[in-house]
Amino acid sequence: MDNGLALTPTMGWLHWERFMCNTDCDTDPHNCISEKLYMEMADVMVKDGWKEAGYEYVCIDDCWPSRERDPKGRLQADPKRFPGGIKKLADYMHSKGLKLGIYADVGTETCAGYPGSLGHYDTDAETFAQWGVDLLKFDGCNMPNWTLLAGGYINMSIALNKTGRSILYSCEWPLYEWQFHQPNYTAIQQTCNHWRNFADVYDSWSSVKTILDWTADHQNFIVPVAGPGGWNDPDMLVIGNFGLSRDQQETQMALWAIMAAPLLMSNDLRAIDSQSRQLLQNRHIIAINQDPLGKQGTRKVKVNGFEVWERPLSNGRQALAVTNRQEIGGPRNFPLILAILLTWKSCIPQCNVTQILPQYRELGVQVLFTKLQLPVNPTGTALLVISPATGKPCSKQQS
Ligand code: GLA
Repeated sequence: MDNGLALTPTMGWLHWERFMCNTDCDTDPHNCISEKLYMEMADVMVKDGWKEAGYEYVCIDDCWPSRERDPKGRLQADPKRFPGGIKKLADYMHSKGLKLGIYADVGTETCAGYPGSLGHYDTDAETFAQWGVDLLKFDGCNMPNWTLLAGGYINMSIALNKTGRSILYSCEWPLYEWQFHQPNYTAIQQTCNHWRNFADVYDSWSSVKTILDWTADHQNFIVPVAGPGGWNDPDMLVIGNFGLSRDQQETQMALWAIMAAPLLMSNDLRAIDSQSRQLLQNRHIIAINQDPLGKQGTRKVKVNGFEVWERPLSNGRQALAVTNRQEIGGPRNFPLILAILLTWKSCIPQCNVTQILPQYRELGVQVLFTKLQLPVNPTGTALLVISPATGKPCSKQQS
């Protein structure tokens, strides 16, 4: 959407995958959906380098509201779990240089059964604006008739616009529309700043894999519409939780950068291991994700159990991810020449290659007859940046 927001993919934190609908603050005060959770996450984001790395939005998902609207028909936060209300939380985020995201639903109820916005779009948009909210994730559960879905998303966009406050609009419109027919991606791109296409991410390799496969299988529809102001959203980063191996975490981070995906982490930043933190804060990967050209990458080939994904970057560069999709055996070699052939434009007459994952290393100036091999662990990814080069080839690196 052309509202001046999300000119590069949104970066931040969103509670859902890690904390779900935990409302039990009596027995689990540390992890329940309450103002304390977001304030603590914000404190850590500032203290531990997240904000500096670019993560800016702290986002509430489902299960925050009271079961009842107030006498004026407005949504209100659960008073026990959010005693200061959402306005106080938004002020808190702003005082730290962060932004606050909130969640609502286009239908009669949210997916977890809290009040939905159907019939209240103007009131809810106005309420969010008055509170100082900066992002709205708008879910698509419980629409009485799916033919109302598109209109609902468009009307909420109009309602947000009328408030005069800049509120980034994160939609789940295509995910729900695909259940009935192929969505109108032009309309979606004109209405939303990002949009979920596919099922919820879980903390598992099979979930990450299905998201990657769906994205590649539908890239002809979804990649052309992505760009500054509007992005495909493959859902949250689950790095730093329990279900992904080191290699799988690297694959998620690398491919979310190639896909120009919003980087919304769902993990516990208060207790994250340092390897996951370094990966999520890796400035080279973030630079690929945030590249100003704003073009989403695609899967170029599937060959011999490898997948090669490519994203065009600014200044004639390319990011290239080589994922080893074979899940048995040890590391397997992928010939760099094949990778270079796929990005031949930057490699005539030669190109400069930097490897970002699994380790940062300058591979130097390469020519088309390079014999260099890229070892890739099962379910892991080698991530490269290839730029046009003048100068001498690195003969030492050739064998
Ligand atoms: C849906 C969404 C999720 C999350 C839950 C909350 O499943 O796709 O991202 O917001 O609802 O109930």
